[in-house]
Amino acid sequence: MSGPDGRAHLADLTTERRQLLRACGVDLDPGAAAEHLATVSRAKFASVAYARRPDRPYVQPRGGVPDHTRQRALVEALAEAGADFLPRTIDSHTRHNDHAAAGALLAAGREQDRDLLNGYPLVSHGVARTRDLFADIDKPVSLRHGTPDARLLVELALAAGITEIEGGGLCYTLPYSKAFPLDRALTHWQYVDRLCASVGPADAPIHRESFGPLTATLVPPAVTAAVQLCELLLAAEQGVRSFAVSFGQTGSFEQDVATARVLREQAARLLARLELTDVTVRLVYHQWMGAFPTEPALAWQLIATSAATSALVGADKVVVKTPEEAIGVPSAASNAAAVRAVRYVLDMYPGTRPVTSEAIEAERELIDGEVTDLLDHVLGQPTGSLLSAVHRAVLDGAIDVPFAPHQQNAGRLLTDRGPGRRVRILDPGALPLSTTHLRRERELLGARSPADGPLWERLLHDVRILA
Ligand code: 5AD
Repeated sequence: MSGPDGRAHLADLTTERRQLLRACGVDLDPGAAAEHLATVSRAKFASVAYARRPDRPYVQPRGGVPDHTRQRALVEALAEAGADFLPRTIDSHTRHNDHAAAGALLAAGREQDRDLLNGYPLVSHGVARTRDLFADIDKPVSLRHGTPDARLLVELALAAGITEIEGGGLCYTLPYSKAFPLDRALTHWQYVDRLCASVGPADAPIHRESFGPLTATLVPPAVTAAVQLCELLLAAEQGVRSFAVSFGQTGSFEQDVATARVLREQAARLLARLELTDVTVRLVYHQWMGAFPTEPALAWQLIATSAATSALVGADKVVVKTPEEAIGVPSAASNAAAVRAVRYVLDMYPGTRPVTSEAIEAERELIDGEVTDLLDHVLGQPTGSLLSAVHRAVLDGAIDVPFAPHQQNAGRLLTDRGPGRRVRILDPGALPLSTTHLRRERELLGARSPADGPLWERLLHDVRILA
């Protein structure tokens, strides 16, 4: 079996860290992050906040602008509006480790008094300036990016006091990169996980979060869950003790509730089976990640119903969209208004327990069975290490993300939307699903009539299903 293994644990990163920092020309003592984090107020640790969650999901906006002063204003506006977690969304050049371009565009933008980057270039700003941004705001900051090789970015983020790191070798590579070699990305995220596990204080571990929406385009819940669980195990293998699995609104209420349950139950079952009992798992719900309506009145309804759903699935945190989603990076005012609106809706559902019904139970059972098929396949591979088993599973198409741009993603899995707008598996490609589960998927999809049109047309239409 290729489950988490003590031998895969990167025991001492110090030499590798020194080499990386030197190679990147960054003057940072590898001891700085642990030293600073030891002094940071415990209220700023995501892991501590989660343990004290009120009777509603936490609210997490996204947000990043290049200019430091404007980033500060954004952080203040979001905190004032009631955000529980503050965002630090990173620009695309930094995500692809092109710090020279990020730095040049930051400088040019200053000269021209306009934003030339789509996020906060943390590496260009450096540790001291980033620390300053939220020194007096007692809330956790979450690093939101999309970086296959996030080693340097995370080194600096941790040294700046950021206590939640989103991402993973699969979820930040397959949907975000075309050519970054997957084995390298997995190895770099092993470094990030080990780093996170080693720099936090004993009573306040650094929190890791995986990104479940993936391409947010007809990804079946079982694939989302398999990716989340693989990343949970890879992180646990490196000593991470606080981790969130996540998923994006599917478009079907029943599948959302069922997916939430499967994620929680499978995570607990897997950790118990592998005797990883010191890992705490949280659940994060992403508001609709597909195309948004341009009409503000409709966008607000989507945000509000999705906020209600986050409470009804029992999420620990909801990642919030804004009414400007269809247009681009939101203004601070629109972002803050969305946070206020989501808080308003969540306060209508205090202490809600996840709902259930016959339809939800049927979905739960099917998704759970499929996830077991996928995880048994990954963990049953005779490859030795968990990392190589996960790598192999992607190369073989056993984990296959619909519409992922990455060259090493098989792209053979075909999905469609069936009755109840549920995402159904039409052709599994190389997904190792049992014939019982595949038959059930086909039954639930039902027969297509010529009026439904060809598959390509339905898929094209689906991209804008809520827009
Ligand atoms: N600030 C706020 N939101 C952002 N997003 C991307 N960059 C930023 C930013 N700098 C949002 C997109 C989309 C999600 C993937 O991230 O609008 O909702």
